[in-house]
Amino acid sequence: MTTTPARPAAGSYDPAATTSGGLAGELARLEAQAALSFDEELRVLRESGVDESCGPLVEIGAGSGAVTRRLRAALPGLPVTAVDIDGDLLAHAEGCGADLVVADGADLPLPDRFAGCVLLRYVLQHLADPLPVLTEALRVLRPGGRIVVTEVDASCWGLADPVFPELASVHAKLTQAQASAGGDRTIGRRLTRLLRSAGYAEVALRPFATTNDDRPTEDFAPHLGPGRLQPLVASGALTLAEFALAADRWNRFRKDPDAYVMLLGLTATGIAPR
Ligand SMILES: C[S@@+](CC[C@H](N)C(=O)[O-])C[C@H]1O[C@@H](n2cnc3c(N)ncnc32)[C@H](O)[C@@H]1O
Repeated sequence: MTTTPARPAAGSYDPAATTSGGLAGELARLEAQAALSFDEELRVLRESGVDESCGPLVEIGAGSGAVTRRLRAALPGLPVTAVDIDGDLLAHAEGCGADLVVADGADLPLPDRFAGCVLLRYVLQHLADPLPVLTEALRVLRPGGRIVVTEVDASCWGLADPVFPELASVHAKLTQAQASAGGDRTIGRRLTRLLRSAGYAEVALRPFATTNDDRPTEDFAPHLGPGRLQPLVASGALTLAEFALAADRWNRFRKDPDAYVMLLGLTATGIAPR
């Protein structure tokens, strides 16, 4: 693992305070989140032209390597450099065959035109200003190389049936808490504009969906379950009653044989100008 002096991450991501289970809980959440939608994400990557011939892939904000490991298994001929500002988290990606670099995505210790592809998955939503990372990604991409950014937008996260309208204010508090910490859970709507203003060409939005027609309802727990809300109780952003409400509705939902969930991911792609 290569380490360069990196500032502490400024932004809304705190791995030890994202779920109820501390760091171990967050590692499990990242793993479950990747397992749930990786097949769809790989399809989008392939449709965007990412394959084993597209040169080194740099994954910025690779975290514990949940996606890095899956990428290496699916595309073993594609060299991967996994970068994260948090060396403790990145250490969990050890052994997957990727080069590991501890660095700020806005200041990469990589040469100009190094990469054929840059991947950013659920990273920009945590940054107060995503533009420096996108600009740095453009510097390390060779002309014609592509950026692939996957994000969410809290206003169109997907749908669940039955609907529990009483949870709307609870989810709004999650979005507000992330905003107060310098992040943005509504970044999905800004992705294409951000890529264009950073200088990318041929920018396109490629949404993908994961449903419980294809995966067990239980697998959606990282997104629909109450685990991510518990730290909000500890910080005072959510009451215990609101947390209990969310836990109760998730229990009802997962036990309902007719329940349907469609989770949307928003992937934006762009090309480094030739
Ligand atoms: C929600 S996690 C996502 C991890 C991984 N992409 C995944 O999907 O499993 C966000 C990651 O972005 C990293 N991160 C935040 N700010 C960063 C920065 N400025 N440079 C590099 N990584 C950063 C965090 O340390 C964390 O690992």
